[in-house]
Amino acid sequence: MNKTHWDKIYKRWYRGVENSIVPNTAKTHPEELEFQQRRLKWLLKTFSFPHADVVEFGAGSGHIAKYMESLGYEVAANDQSEWAVEICRFVGIPSCVFDMKRPYKNTGLARGRVVVTSCSMEQLGKDWKPFYHMLLDEKPVVVIHQEPLFELYGPGDEKFKQYHLKQNYLTGYLPAIPKEKILHLKHQTMGHRHHAFSELVWKP
Ligand SMILES: C[S@@+](CC[C@H](N)C(=O)[O-])C[C@H]1O[C@@H](n2cnc3c(N)ncnc32)[C@H](O)[C@@H]1O
Repeated sequence: MNKTHWDKIYKRWYRGVENSIVPNTAKTHPEELEFQQRRLKWLLKTFSFPHADVVEFGAGSGHIAKYMESLGYEVAANDQSEWAVEICRFVGIPSCVFDMKRPYKNTGLARGRVVVTSCSMEQLGKDWKPFYHMLLDEKPVVVIHQEPLFELYGPGDEKFKQYHLKQNYLTGYLPAIPKEKILHLKHQTMGHRHHAFSELVWKP
C-alpha cells in the first residue's frame, strides 16, 4: 500500500480525534456550537486579516482553536490546566500553561496576534484586571471575545442574570474598556443557561 492509502486512513482517524475534543455541552446543543462557529468566522473575517496569528486564551480542549485553524489561521492556545494544554498539543495546537488571573510580565503571548477568548474570561468573575492590563501592555492586533457579558442583560433576562451571578461569571469588564477602543459590541441571546456568546471586539 502506498503513502496516499495510509494518509487517507490516518486523516479520517485524526478527524475522529478532533471530534472527541468537542465538549459534551456543545454536543448536546449542536445549534449553539454551529451559531458560535458561524459568528466567530464572521468576527475573524471582519476584524482580523487572512492567515493572521491567533492566540486563544483559556482554550480548554482546543476545539475552537482547531476550528479557527481549519479556517486558515495560525493558531496557538493556552489554558490554566496542564491537561487541557496536553490535549491541545495532542491535536496539533501549540499550547502552554497560562493563568489569566496571574499573567506574568512580558509573556509576549498576545503581542502582534489576534487574541480570542471563548467562554473562558467568564470564569474570571471580578478578577479580570491583571489580564486586562496585560492586554493593554502587549497591544495585540485586536481582541475578540465571545463571552457572557453581564452588563448586556436586559429586564427580561432575570433567569440568565441569576445563573450568571450564581456561577460568579465575568462582571465589570465591559464598562472598564474605554468606548473609543471598542470596535464591535453585540448582545447575543444564544445559550441554554446564560447568554454565552455575546461579542466584544476591542483594540488595546
Ligand atoms: C467553559 S471552558 C471553555 C473552553 C474553550 N474556550 C471552549 O470554548 O470550549 C473554560 C476554560 O477556561 C479555563 N480557565 C478558567 N480560568 C482560567 C484562568 N484563570 N486562566 C486560564 N484559563 C482559565 C478553564 O481551564 C477552561 O478550559
